This record gives sequence, C-alpha cells and structure tokens, in this order.
Amino acid sequence: MREQIAGAVAQFEKVLTEQLERVERMKAEQDFVDYGSLDTLVVGVCGGDGIGPTITAEAERVLRFLLADEVAAGRVEFREIDGLTIERRAEVGKAIPDDVLEELRACHVILKGPTTTPRAGDPWPNIESANVAMRKELDLFANMRPVKVPAEGIDWTFFRENTEGSYAVGSRGVHVTDDLAVDFCVTTTQGTERIARLAFDYAKKNGKDHVSIVTKANVIKTTDGKFLNLCQQIAKDYPGIRVDDWYIDIMTAKLVDRKRRTDFQVLILPNLYGDILTDEAAEFQGGVGTAGSANIGKRYAMFEAIHGSAPRMVAEGRAQYADPCSMLRAAAMLLRHIGRGERAALLERALDICMFEERRLTITGRDTGCTCEEFGAYVRETVEALAKK
Ligand code: IPM
Ligand code: MG
Repeated sequence: MREQIAGAVAQFEKVLTEQLERVERMKAEQDFVDYGSLDTLVVGVCGGDGIGPTITAEAERVLRFLLADEVAAGRVEFREIDGLTIERRAEVGKAIPDDVLEELRACHVILKGPTTTPRAGDPWPNIESANVAMRKELDLFANMRPVKVPAEGIDWTFFRENTEGSYAVGSRGVHVTDDLAVDFCVTTTQGTERIARLAFDYAKKNGKDHVSIVTKANVIKTTDGKFLNLCQQIAKDYPGIRVDDWYIDIMTAKLVDRKRRTDFQVLILPNLYGDILTDEAAEFQGGVGTAGSANIGKRYAMFEAIHGSAPRMVAEGRAQYADPCSMLRAAAMLLRHIGRGERAALLERALDICMFEERRLTITGRDTGCTCEEFGAYVRETVEALAKK
C-alpha cells in the first residue's frame, strides 16, 4: 500500500509543480491584445471533424462575405488549418498535433468546428479533448456563452471559467489502487480573478445590472469556496451591479422556473458547472445546435459551437442537414470580439430573423428540413438585404 500511495504522491507533486508554474505565468501575463491596432488580423479556420467541416464552412462563408473589403485591403487574412481531425490526432497520439498548434499560434482568432472527444470504449486512443487542450494551450480562460429567447424574456450570458476547476488536470487523475481513483480540481487566485473581472466588465459595458455567481461552495468547500469568495471580492469594484450567489443544483432548477429565470442576466461559474448549465440553457433556445461560444484569452480567442461533432448524424448519413446556427452565432461573436461590432450586429440580426421571426427555412437535422448549405445561404441573403437598408 505504501508503494501505491508513494506513486500517487509523486503524481500529485508533478501536478502541483505544474500548477504553481502556471500561476507564475498568469502573474506575468500581458493585458488583452488590441485587435484594432494590428496591420493584419489573422483568422484561422479549423473545420474539425464529424459535422464540423459542414457547419464551419457556412460560418466561414458569411465571415468572408462580411469582411470582404478588409480581406481585399489586406487588413484581414483567413487561413485554413487542416489536421485537427480525430484520425490525425489519433495517429500522432496528441490532442492537438504539433504542426497544427504552431499554425494556431500564428493566428489571432480562430473559428473552430467541433472535434471528436474520445472516451473509454471508443476505437480511438483515449487522447485529451482538442477543445480542452486548445483552451489550455492558448490560455483561453473565459468561455462566454450567450443564450437568448426573446419571446420568453430570456437573455443570459454565461461566463464559464475555462482552464481550471475539474478540467485543469482532468486527464491526469490517479488510479491509486485498482479500487481507488482520485481526480484533481484546481482553483487559483489569478485564474478566478480574471474570469470574474471579465464577467463584471461585460455586465457594466452592456448595461446589465445583475450578476450571479454559481458554485457548490457548501460541499466543495475549498476550491468552490475560494472561487465564490474571490468573485464576491471583485464584485465590490462594481457598485452598480446587484450580485447574488447560487448553488449549482438549485440554479439548474431555477432555469426551468419561468417566473424566476427572466431575472438572471450574467452568470459566472467554475468550469464543470458552466459546461453543464450552458447545455441546459441552450435547450430553451432550440438546443445546443443553436448556441455559439467565445473562448477568450488575452492574446488569442477561439470561437466554436457548444456541442460536439455529432458522429451519429454522420453515421446515419445526415451530416448535410446539420444546423449551422451554432457556428454562425460563433462567427458573430468573433466579429464583435475583433471590434467589428456593426457587422456582428448585422449577422446577429439576420440570425434572429432566420431562426425566430421569418423562419422561411427550418433545420430539423434530417431530410424533413433544409440542408445546412441552404440555411447558410438564407442567412447570407438576409445579411445582404439588411446591409442594403
Ligand atoms: C463544451 C464541450 C467540451 C467540454 C467537451 C467536448 C470536452 O462539452 O465545449 O462544452 O466539456 O468543455
Ligand atoms: Mg459541454
């Protein structure tokens, strides 16, 4: 037994060393890059796998359309990045192949299609999720996920911490013995303060006056307790904002409570709760296929769908009917993040028209609805019509 404990302690020591090194890097990190000041802003496009390439193509088309003048003037450059497929990742045994990572690092912002995450029992080696790896490699610490259902008064923006919590060393837990497995959960001061600040700044800039902190600090006392305390400290710098805190279980219930839920505006959560709650939230809007997300760091930002690569749709021959709305929403977030707010607003408005108002075409995920390409064209036509007004 002593030997097994020693093995686990050695692993724990490694994890602690790495995390303390990460803290030092966070202390030294620079402020946000000002994308407006760049001569050429490089947009990387990674199709991913499964339905990824199909839905990403539509998002890229609309982006190229909206940025055509800037591409022509050399102010924006698109770069296709291949090789982030499950086959390639399995072949090199890495979440992100080295050459792909190098290409990603040469971009400023990235539009990324869903990538398959292997799990135990799959034919693939059990490599780490490409999204999780990319969030860590590029230090994309904030996962911003908006959910809107105008007809029901729902307008939520989730700020999910994206590099810590149960995900920080999620692939590196320890089987201490055949009977005992232990995972790690990490909260740092720097990691929590930066997500909290971003969420409160967002609230302030966007006229939101209510921020909810969501944890399970009554049970996960150390890491969630620290997260909650630090968020409450940061809140003091934002006197105009009403702040409350909720436990994740009751918050999950309250999102279904029609009377209560319209009161929520901005929510801050540790990684795992943010993962779960945003899937639930997206369901009210029409499912995960309709929700985009921004993974924001100080140097890089990556925009993606909140869902996976839907291998079942591909296996059933339905990939061409995949819903591109999640990636189109992600594209709008990309535009907003790089300071092209007017164009972002055009795309957001077009999406609202196509998804909620006019609804000339509908996506059902099968041949009872339109194809992904047809919906993409519908959105582009709508953008064009709005631009002419
Ligand atoms: C998400 C996804 C990922 C996550 C998976 C694919 C690893 O569910 O972006 O929410 O858990 O973060
Ligand atoms: Mg998720």
